Amino acid sequence: MSQSKEAAGRRAAEFIEDGMTVGLGTGSTVYFTLVALAERIAKENLAIRGVPTSIDTEVKARDMGIPLVALADVAQIDVTIDGADEIDGEFQMIKGGGGALLREKVVASLSTREVIVVHPSKVVERLGEGFLLPVEVVPFARPVVVHHLKQLGGTASIRMRSEKEPFLTDNGNEILDCRFDGGIPNARELDRTLNGIPGVVENGLFVGLAHVLVIGHEDGSAEVRERG
Ligand code: A5P
Repeated sequence: MSQSKEAAGRRAAEFIEDGMTVGLGTGSTVYFTLVALAERIAKENLAIRGVPTSIDTEVKARDMGIPLVALADVAQIDVTIDGADEIDGEFQMIKGGGGALLREKVVASLSTREVIVVHPSKVVERLGEGFLLPVEVVPFARPVVVHHLKQLGGTASIRMRSEKEPFLTDNGNEILDCRFDGGIPNARELDRTLNGIPGVVENGLFVGLAHVLVIGHEDGSAEVRERG
């Protein structure tokens, strides 16, 4: 597993060029992009500025010596490298397994090119059959959102960080992990519907945001696909 993640993460770092503003995604696959990027900064004297999508990535990037910039000081991002929990043939994705979906989606929305790095198991026919869809909610509104999700045919469970305490995102919100029996036939429609529920901050469906997919393999090779 880690061979394939490293292959994908390192290959994606090749999309970064001197002078670029770079979105830095979150997760164990992007970790290898950060490592490769730090190596390139040291070897090639590459001048980039990174926009992290989570506190976790911010800390890792800083430790590795990758220069960072605040989102507020950026009008546009040249390329973002990020992971995914599931991605289909149209490059629609479920993200947020690590809870970073909100910042990841904001950064993706500002990115000219979004490169997704995955292990082959993340490539699916239909979203939501295997992975639960994360929905970030304001804690106050959680019961109302659960009710709305039921009406949409979803079953929601609160993500926990311990037996008693809910998991909190970097933005101080909670996550509902939602199952839709039979998966998600229309991601674009569900994305809009979910974000229309009062109390929902963002959901983990990413539609029309990914441009390039890098799939890493256990033999150390990486396959690059462009969105058709
Ligand atoms: C973070 O919230 C997620 O969207 C990650 O990008 C996703 O879970 C991929 O992580 P891995 O590369 O660790 O599988």
